[in-house]
Amino acid sequence: MNDFKHNSEENYIEIIQRLVKCIVILLIIIVVLIVLHITGFPIPEKEIPKKEISPKTEAIEKPKADVWIAPDTSNIKTEDNAAQIIYGRELIANTSLYLGPQGKVAHISNGMNCQNCHLDAGTRPFGNNYSGVASTYPKFRERSGTMESIYKRVNDCFERSLNGKALDTLSNEMQAIVSYIKWLGKGVPKGEKPKGAGLTELTYLDRAADPEKGKAVYISKCKTCHMENGEGKFNEGRLTYQYPPLWGEHSYNDGAGLYRLSRFAGYVKSNMPQNTTYDSPQLTDEEAWDVAAFVNSQPRPKKDLSKDWPKLSGKPVDHPFGPYADKFPEEQHKYGPFAPIADARKKAKK
Ligand code: HEC
Ligand code: HEC
Repeated sequence: MNDFKHNSEENYIEIIQRLVKCIVILLIIIVVLIVLHITGFPIPEKEIPKKEISPKTEAIEKPKADVWIAPDTSNIKTEDNAAQIIYGRELIANTSLYLGPQGKVAHISNGMNCQNCHLDAGTRPFGNNYSGVASTYPKFRERSGTMESIYKRVNDCFERSLNGKALDTLSNEMQAIVSYIKWLGKGVPKGEKPKGAGLTELTYLDRAADPEKGKAVYISKCKTCHMENGEGKFNEGRLTYQYPPLWGEHSYNDGAGLYRLSRFAGYVKSNMPQNTTYDSPQLTDEEAWDVAAFVNSQPRPKKDLSKDWPKLSGKPVDHPFGPYADKFPEEQHKYGPFAPIADARKKAKK
């Protein structure tokens, strides 16, 4: 009996020891599995995502490679007119501080900065940059029907986009702005416009752009910054805008480039809401056209445009004021659909 008891006690202990061993091994396996899981199973997982990611990154990087990149500003100091170029860049970025309603040099513009529309001081790809200006001006422009210098083109934006007055060509400010624009474009061969210059050209919708739909886009995606009535928002001190106005008395006038739907839609598609870039657009093409239709249906300053487009056939399809060389109504020239107008023009040319 005693023997049996002794034996069974030994068995019992042995069983417990084995059980403990099993539990320890199991625990070790579990811990190893957890560690492997957290570090992401390095061996099998490595090869699978590589195949998926590489074609995608190639697709993104390819167009980037040939998009214009602005020269490095730290090299400006090697130029003979470095101070002038730096002042020009400052005027593009902070136009209002110098030339706005309370500007320290003159009061000739509406409080906006050139950079509000020519982003990052005119250097951002598809952000209305200046890469193709020095290389293509002077050039003939249909809007004025004349050969235009860079001075004339800069003053166009002062008089229209900044709803202001022209700068004297010989003023320090104009000379500085033009020196900066020339410096930016110095690496671009004469006659060429690099990829990423100016604005994105969107394909036309097959319907008219719709201000009502655009209003919904505005309310959900623009209003927080540009405000309820498109009036924008001042910085502290009210010397310049944190968020520039989109309509109303302090906005661009009806002779400005952005007043054409294609310019506005192209700008917004690649650049808005703030911090959007051309390779990560936040709006569909339809949203961009519709919000353009909404914003450009709101009140804004007017300009005398009677001398614009002396040759009617040179008017862009989306110039919203007649008379026209074709029979399409003003309404269609403002909101579209634009493709039938463009097609009719092509046929007329043949
Ligand atoms: C409200 C927006 C807006 C503001 C502010 C603005 N511009 Fe412009 N600018 C435009 C648009 C739109 C175009 C035409 C782009 C196009 O058609 O591709 C343009 C075109 C130009 C061009 C010709 C670009 C080219 O590649 O041919 C120059 C130069 C220019 N602007 C200079 C200026 C300067 C200097 C200022 C400040 C004094 C300024 N702009 C302020 C909207 C603006
Ligand atoms: C997070 C804030 C923010 C949102 C949201 C936003 N914007 Fe802007 N927007 C800006 C800022 C800031 C600028 C000026 C950019 C600069 O100076 O670098 C600007 C500039 C503009 C301009 C050119 C300057 C002008 O005032 O005419 C237009 C047009 C514009 N935005 C349209 C839109 C539209 C349309 C939407 C909605 C789809 C939108 N923005 C959403 C902040 C915003």
